[in-house]
Amino acid sequence: MKVNLDDHFSISKVVIGCMRMHEWNFDVEQRIEFVEWCIEQGITTFDHADIYGGNHQNEALFGEVLQKKPQLREKIEIITKCSICVPNNENPNIKTRYFNTGKEYIINQVNQSLENLKCEYVDLLLIHMHDLLVNPQELNETLNQLKEEGKVKFFGLSNHNPLEFDTLQKYIDVKFVTHQFMLNPLGIENYKNGTMTHCLREGIHPMFWSPLAGGRIFNPSNAFEENMKNVLEGIRQELQLEDIDEVVYRWLLKHSSDPIIVLGTGNRERIKRALDSLDGTQMTREQWYKILTEAGYELC
Ligand SMILES: NC(=O)c1ccc[n+]([C@@H]2O[C@H](COP(=O)([O-])OP(=O)(O)OC[C@H]3O[C@@H](n4cnc5c(N)ncnc54)[C@H](OP(=O)(O)O)[C@@H]3O)[C@@H](O)[C@H]2O)c1
Repeated sequence: MKVNLDDHFSISKVVIGCMRMHEWNFDVEQRIEFVEWCIEQGITTFDHADIYGGNHQNEALFGEVLQKKPQLREKIEIITKCSICVPNNENPNIKTRYFNTGKEYIINQVNQSLENLKCEYVDLLLIHMHDLLVNPQELNETLNQLKEEGKVKFFGLSNHNPLEFDTLQKYIDVKFVTHQFMLNPLGIENYKNGTMTHCLREGIHPMFWSPLAGGRIFNPSNAFEENMKNVLEGIRQELQLEDIDEVVYRWLLKHSSDPIIVLGTGNRERIKRALDSLDGTQMTREQWYKILTEAGYELC
């Protein structure tokens, strides 16, 4: 199932996040098989960032797939992100985490992403975090240059609040086609701070990262998380679903903005459960609000 982010651009409703790809321990042949299997399932979009696995490391793992099977490139959409500078072995000059949206930096990061991904273009570039020192006019020049050079087809933002989003959009010629941020039953800040309502107002299809709270919904480590697991388990039984991830996906996808979920697993059974959540059993309004309020949202 696809979601149209623009008249000329759509991505799959279930996206494979590649942040943990280095932990999956797939050799290159297994990575190729995995990508081909995803395409067969209708999952055509892969989410990267320059920092995943280290300095462009997971992009390079994906690049090996495309180097061996270049014909896969036109069957998929590739997302990448930049703006987070983190200390790592290859950049010993970076001593502390900070954000950078300067022109030279962004252009350089995109060039390195393309080199590692073995691609001539990425479909979607997201500014990973809001840079408080951003110069919107300079960022506009940067994005226009990347588009004119054919290196990036579409642009979006990640982890910006509604004011930050609107302020950048005011100065940027290209329309941001999506907003990627965290949402899960253990983290509902983006319901509380108006980001979800902003998506609805602007007709933006949000992309939710860490839909399962990085796996914490299965492995609670405090009373709040334990309670949420019990609530999800109760609704799982009511809906007669296989596991609580299917409850979470239904909860996330019920919003009218027609959201996209970015999965963090390479486990095919778990991916299939996400796909199963796109059709069939719907959660009731009451069940949906039960999860929201147990997550800490105060209804008037
Ligand atoms: N824009 C941003 O700032 C940002 C930030 C973070 C992440 N992201 C994107 O979002 C993607 C997903 O994030 P995420 O990895 O945190 O997603 P997630 O789906 O919330 O968490 C994935 C983790 O949950 C575990 N898990 C899944 N199903 C499970 C089950 N049934 N039982 C036990 N554990 C289970 C997985 O383990 P297994 O591998 O064993 O299945 C994996 O370790 C990332 O890959 C990245 O692309 C974006």
